[in-house]
Amino acid sequence: MSFSFRRTDFPDGFLFGAATAAYQIEGSSFGDAGPSHWDTFAATPGNVVNAETGAIACDHYHRYAEDLDLIRAGGFDAYRFSTSWARVMPDGKSVNAEGLDFYDRLADAILERGLKPYLTLYHWDLPAALSDLGGWRNRDVASWFADYAGIVMRRIGDRMAATATINEPWCVSWLSHFWGIHAPGLRDIRAAARSMHHVLLAHARALEAMRAAGHSNLGIVLNFEHANPASDRPEDVAAAKRYDGFYNRWFIEALTRKSYPQEILEAFGDHMPQGYQDDLQAIGAPIDWLGVNYYTRTNVAHDPASAWPSLKSVRGPLPKTDMGWEIYPDGLHGFLTRLHRDYTSDTPIIVTENGMAWDDRVEGGRVDDAERIAYFDTHLAAVRRAIADGAPVRGYFGWSLLDNYEWSFGYGKRFGMVHVDYETQKRTPKASFEAFRQAIGGN
Ligand code: FCB
Repeated sequence: MSFSFRRTDFPDGFLFGAATAAYQIEGSSFGDAGPSHWDTFAATPGNVVNAETGAIACDHYHRYAEDLDLIRAGGFDAYRFSTSWARVMPDGKSVNAEGLDFYDRLADAILERGLKPYLTLYHWDLPAALSDLGGWRNRDVASWFADYAGIVMRRIGDRMAATATINEPWCVSWLSHFWGIHAPGLRDIRAAARSMHHVLLAHARALEAMRAAGHSNLGIVLNFEHANPASDRPEDVAAAKRYDGFYNRWFIEALTRKSYPQEILEAFGDHMPQGYQDDLQAIGAPIDWLGVNYYTRTNVAHDPASAWPSLKSVRGPLPKTDMGWEIYPDGLHGFLTRLHRDYTSDTPIIVTENGMAWDDRVEGGRVDDAERIAYFDTHLAAVRRAIADGAPVRGYFGWSLLDNYEWSFGYGKRFGMVHVDYETQKRTPKASFEAFRQAIGGN
């Protein structure tokens, strides 16, 4: 099975890439990294399937050369990776020379293979020592993060094609501090409101520091999920609008309009940090590009029995991935055109993550992931339609290069274009990897 497109169906210079994140692949037990809040979260019963952690993961720390060779062989143009805060600053304060040396070697190795490095500075591995101080609830996190960003960029910033401050502020804040599903696992509206603001303030402070140091092509990566009302009933339509407000609009409106959605502030107001309004000017400073992560839609129903936002997700009718996520490519087209029209105008957009989990098996040395080929194909068709409709989409990164640690799901959910056998660390490119190679011109 192959893709229905070729590289030439996209505008000149359109980037195809593969994405990963540090904690999910590196092996946090190697190279004197410090504990992150993910290690402590996973050590707490009930948080992660099988209590799995990123201690070994894909052993990318030692196998990065082989992994980068694969990206090159697939014909990709770019590699999106993240640096681990807990590896670079194990106690949250001092610098681990070995950690910086690793990213220095990695940066060179990416360039040696002719790939463009797309760096994300925070993909969720907050040093546990900073979590002890309140982590994202503490306003000081903004200056801690700016310091860390400066340290990383002084070492490798000269070689980055593009840099994003933070991956998925919604997950960093709401998912982790209100729903308690990711580290630090809090379920507290005050923690949620504070982290929803501080994560953006941290982005702003890091951006300022990097601009002052002369770095360019700086952005942020937001995740978007289409909020579909579970029925036409006005209560469900209103619930879906609230979902869109706290998930999608909160972050992009602060970044582009210097304001938060009013209906979310009405519930959050008492819990917001004092004087938050004074930070919005800095939060709204222009970015050079926006990263968009998109996977699915949610069917939202009003739930009068639960506290604000008084809603629940209900099972929808569309085909689902191994995560139970509905496959809905129109949602990607919808966000790309909506962002361009309502928020970001001509600021370049890069799809920084898109992909699906499937229960892949190696059979006869091959992994036939036809479902994933169809998923990528239909979502790339949605990207093409968005470009034809005027959205300035400049690249697409598949999530993920490798099967990896899928957070609270542990190693059970496979998102890779390359299969990883966690016993032997053997990499087996799946059929979807081959499909990319054929469509975008690898050898
Ligand atoms: C995103 C994360 C990424 C991965 C995918 C499936 O929310 O950024 O690390 O877990 O989901």
